[in-house]
Amino acid sequence: MSAEIIDGKTFAERLRRRVGEAVPAFASATGRKPGLAVVLVGEDPASQVYVRSKGKATVEAGMESVEHRLPAATTQDALIALVRQLGEDESVDGILVQLPLPPSIDEKAVIAAIDPAKDVDGFTVANAGRLAVGDEGLVPCTPLGCLMLLKDQLGDLTGLHAVVVGRSNIVGKPMAQLLLKENCTVTIAHSRTRGLPALVAQADVVVAAVGRPQMIRGDWLKPGSTVIDIGINRIQIGGGNSKLVGDVDFDTACEVAGAITPVPGGVGPMTIAVLLRNTLVAAHARAGLAAPEGL
Ligand code: GUN
Repeated sequence: MSAEIIDGKTFAERLRRRVGEAVPAFASATGRKPGLAVVLVGEDPASQVYVRSKGKATVEAGMESVEHRLPAATTQDALIALVRQLGEDESVDGILVQLPLPPSIDEKAVIAAIDPAKDVDGFTVANAGRLAVGDEGLVPCTPLGCLMLLKDQLGDLTGLHAVVVGRSNIVGKPMAQLLLKENCTVTIAHSRTRGLPALVAQADVVVAAVGRPQMIRGDWLKPGSTVIDIGINRIQIGGGNSKLVGDVDFDTACEVAGAITPVPGGVGPMTIAVLLRNTLVAAHARAGLAAPEGL
């Protein structure tokens, strides 16, 4: 058996196009474009790449992009002051503070300063709480993108057993909440879970977000299951070369799974597409407009 490959890249391109197509109607209703402010503190190379990609995608979707690049020595108070100022700025609909922040800064204190109405990452306690009690709110981009791929692949998820491997606030926990909302039976596992292979063997849907390269192997999987791999790990392959791999051992998983996201080209492109979608949704809500259909 060889698994169907879930093409997140193409799905994300379509979502980005639909977001871009909805921007002119917002602009003619409000007299301005939706605006996304991205804040980067320090020189982390991966974060710089992500922030550049987010800004470029925002402009390509016809939205306003504002970047604030601050030195690593920025104080927590100065960062919080900027985040509050962006909260007051009428031209800003979305605020994204790129994580991780330098160790001297308390991430939770900074996230708490983000206006929940502009929290396009869905990281504030207000939005996490709304998700937990099943209310409308802004939902973290990566898990929402995974849910979109799953629904596109499987349709109704009711009654499926989903095993989420990973319990971070950014991915694992919101992913589990979203799957519960879709009537899945959800197990949250993590790096300390005992008997993980036996748990994964029961799963109709596996979401891997544990941050360990190729940990989940094909012989753990239930035949025909759907595998969503959120991991992005760079490993050495000899000769001084490296490659990106997920948290799932792709080659062996392909032999057993019914469908699987590749790394790269699976979940990764969805994060930015959903960020644009969340920015558009936040802009509509702030302007008192109904959210665009089908996003
Ligand atoms: N760092 C890694 N992923 C993310 C993300 O989705 N949002 C933010 N703000 N920082 C990140």
